[in-house]
Amino acid sequence: MSDNDVEDVSFLPGESLHRKAIYEPSVPQRCKQFVCSQGKATIVAIVIGLFVLLITLIAAFARPSQPICESGHSKMEQHGTLVNIQTDDYVATNGKPFPWRNVRLPDSVLPIEYHIFLHPNISLSIFQGVVTILCKVQKETDFFVFHIKDLNISDYGVKLSNGENVVVNEYLEYKRNEQIYVRLERQLPTGTQFNLEVKFLGQLTGKLSGFYKSSYKTDNGEERYIATTHFEPTDARSAFPCFDEPHFKAIFQMSIVREKDYIALYNMPLNRSEVYEKGSLMVDHFEKSVDMSTYLVAFVVCDYKNVTSHTKGNVKVSVYTPPDQIERAHFALEAAVAILDYYDEFFGVKYPLPKADLIAIPDFAAGAMENWGLVTYRLTAILYDPVKSSASSQQWVAVVIAHELAHQWFGNLVTMKWWDDLWLNEGFASFVEYIGTDRIHTEWQMTEQFIGDDLLKALYLDSLSNSHPISVPVHRPSEINEIFDSITYSKGASIIRMLQEYIGKEKFQEGLKFYLKKFQYGNADNSELWQSFQQSLDPNTVLNVTLMMETWTKQMGYPVITLSRNGNKVTATQERFLLYPQSQENSQYISPFLYKWYVPFSYTTSLDINITQKLEMKLIDNVEFEIKGDAEWVKGNSHMFGYFRVNYDEKNWKAIIYQLNKDHTVFSAGERAGLIDDAFQLARSGRLSHKIAFDLTQYLVHEEEYVPWDSALSNLGYIEGRIQNKPVYRQYKNYMMKLMEHLLNKLTWDDSGDHLTKFLTAEIFGKAIQFGHQQSVDNGKLAFKKWSMNSSSISPNLKMSTFRAGIEYGDDTEWELCWDQYLKANVASEKTQLLAALGFTKDVRLLSRLLSFSLENDKFKSQDTPSVISIVSGNYGGQALAWRFLQQNWDTFYTRYGSLSFILSSIIKSVASGFDTDFDYLEVKKFFETRDAGTGVMAVKQAMEKIQMNSYWMKQNEKEVTDWLMKNGS
Ligand code: BES
Ligand code: ZN
Repeated sequence: MSDNDVEDVSFLPGESLHRKAIYEPSVPQRCKQFVCSQGKATIVAIVIGLFVLLITLIAAFARPSQPICESGHSKMEQHGTLVNIQTDDYVATNGKPFPWRNVRLPDSVLPIEYHIFLHPNISLSIFQGVVTILCKVQKETDFFVFHIKDLNISDYGVKLSNGENVVVNEYLEYKRNEQIYVRLERQLPTGTQFNLEVKFLGQLTGKLSGFYKSSYKTDNGEERYIATTHFEPTDARSAFPCFDEPHFKAIFQMSIVREKDYIALYNMPLNRSEVYEKGSLMVDHFEKSVDMSTYLVAFVVCDYKNVTSHTKGNVKVSVYTPPDQIERAHFALEAAVAILDYYDEFFGVKYPLPKADLIAIPDFAAGAMENWGLVTYRLTAILYDPVKSSASSQQWVAVVIAHELAHQWFGNLVTMKWWDDLWLNEGFASFVEYIGTDRIHTEWQMTEQFIGDDLLKALYLDSLSNSHPISVPVHRPSEINEIFDSITYSKGASIIRMLQEYIGKEKFQEGLKFYLKKFQYGNADNSELWQSFQQSLDPNTVLNVTLMMETWTKQMGYPVITLSRNGNKVTATQERFLLYPQSQENSQYISPFLYKWYVPFSYTTSLDINITQKLEMKLIDNVEFEIKGDAEWVKGNSHMFGYFRVNYDEKNWKAIIYQLNKDHTVFSAGERAGLIDDAFQLARSGRLSHKIAFDLTQYLVHEEEYVPWDSALSNLGYIEGRIQNKPVYRQYKNYMMKLMEHLLNKLTWDDSGDHLTKFLTAEIFGKAIQFGHQQSVDNGKLAFKKWSMNSSSISPNLKMSTFRAGIEYGDDTEWELCWDQYLKANVASEKTQLLAALGFTKDVRLLSRLLSFSLENDKFKSQDTPSVISIVSGNYGGQALAWRFLQQNWDTFYTRYGSLSFILSSIIKSVASGFDTDFDYLEVKKFFETRDAGTGVMAVKQAMEKIQMNSYWMKQNEKEVTDWLMKNGS
């Protein structure tokens, strides 16, 4: 399978570690499942069971308190979702009509300040809480609406600031919209302030969202539990009742009860601790937060250790990890301090909180989450072991930290008004993460890496008819969750980078500083960002930033710019680029610009290699420009700053190929990666012959840099996936070995060289071993043998190649050895490598065993099941197995990860995208016709389009590619 086909799963291990992650919190649809599978009798039994449990919980937590008033609804009603709710019935849980018929809250009442008291009981997996929300009436009203989800309310009441009680006439819950409607006995005039107090009970479940339970094993095998949160986008409401929309910013004050030998952490520092109810518990009271959105609130109760340091601005930075892992926290700490110092300068506004905590969470759906002052991380995204972790896992830690810290300004200080602008939040952080990481490790060449890791990935996904515009209206949680994808992240980052290049770094930064100052502690939308950039420009400029950027955000896809030359005249024409134009258009998105873009075009010629010329194509079909008549070639999109592809006439392609062979360094590494990608993607779309694309790869015999090689291996990998079971695979292997020969002679097994050389070595050795290159296989097997006797004998960057040789060319013994080590490993990144290694076996029995292990809780955490499936389906022999496994277990995944989960879409993509026959297409279609794909709906469409495209590719190109390989690979 091509690397491209796994474009958005960063929990993939091994060499893919540095890839971008797209996840989402998982919300199991337990109730739905019961209805489908067990029938009514089970439902009744469960309802009764839950009712009994609730009573027990209330008793367990009972402490003297004055009831405010009776809630008036029962547990039976709470679990009303056990019965299917019609989409538009608007019936509250007590059977009465629910008057508020909008998934968004009314804005007549605003929250100002929350006081939250929480008492989690980790061993019983429950929590109780009281929240008092100081609210202000914005427009005279006698009702208000707020959010709750999966909480049982035991009491509630409304009091004016003078202490007077306001009688509640109606209190209704509507589960589908996760809303509570409260109608008061009288109108409250504008400006009135009141306190809403709600007492509630909830469960700390094993799902990875809301307030949930997580566990880790100590070095001596003891299992320990912690309680932690993940709220973005809409799960704060499952930890405490709240106005859970990003524009309802408020101050949060928090108190948490904990055991004496545990600690509690929150967005803000501890203010004081006291003994709780004269017992063995303590209650921690924290400092008040600044004005912030609900999705950024976080708290953790754990028994962790920490390391601490300070920024120049005296912000206290700490990294918290399970006690046995604390030695692996130093790199994260250093990186966070350095990046925070730099961002203070870069954003022109100082980090406003007194502390910044980073904490490792053993069970985590996403890679990391930017909670203000308490960023939560998956273990692989924060822990770095200088001896055991590879260069790519070190980079991943730095990148994730840089990303989440960028959000502390962009997202936390200034927040989007509504989730429609999520792309701005995530696209921006995905852009700035490179700036932050580059600052601490210039030698990692992050700016060149951007091209492979974000730009090309976005260009690929966005060339499907089933892509979507960056800006899409979203309403419900399921829709919001669905847009955490590569378009939002990587296309978002790519078009921001394009704008920065176009208006210049200084103006860009000026606009950004203006925006952050103007909207700090508030909300903004993308037009306000564009206006901020506009005001930084010369008032006489003809550039309309909003107009230009909207052509990139409001329509899906992007153009291919075709340059045709006549003497010294070049005509540039724009047209939408589609990889498989025959596929059915996603008709729900109509382009307001008829698929024309405002293109900031740039080019160089062979005569002025270092001079970039710029011109604009403003929503028009073509522009003409002149070059020196004797220029051998013209090359568009200098340094790949533009979010588009460029095609040329055959003569110009040949001249570029000639140049690459003569001296490829006249183009930057990123440009070379882009040329390879453009050529192959243009060939796949039928706009260029595969012969030209393959001819272009011949220069790789001189290529020694990682970024172009990564692009080449990904593009050739696509073709490899198509011809793997054809006789010409042999010639393909020969050709690849020819291209890699110089590197195989140069790269060594002693893990020397710079950062990107380490990446390159891992890729090239891995490929050579796959192709059966004897010397590499022998070296790998030898290293494996040494490792089996002494696991510290190989350096982390060579582990993947070593494991690959051992497992791919070994049998059960090697596999079982790695499996054993997998179970024992306590370094997260090493565990990931071992898992990837297990997927290299040629024995389908072992792959099948791995798949079935993936659902066993004592072997895999539920956050890791998708990686196992993806690893198995990435193995040619495992593709069909993985598809069968997906079908067999779809209901389990649906229950486990929920219809809201991005995990579902990543599973679908990793399993189905590599198929290439009409038969496969029909199978996938048939399967999902009768299943709810949840948030995987778009993934299913995209996977089916890819299968059709693959099948079409075979029919269209197999002969041409086979002929070329027969000639050049024999
Ligand atoms: N805000 C997201 C976390 C998130 C992801 C919340 C999906 C809800 C659903 C966070 O800033 C993020 O983007 N994390 C990335 C890491 C980053 C380096 C791309 C992740 O989780 O993979
Ligand atoms: Zn993010």
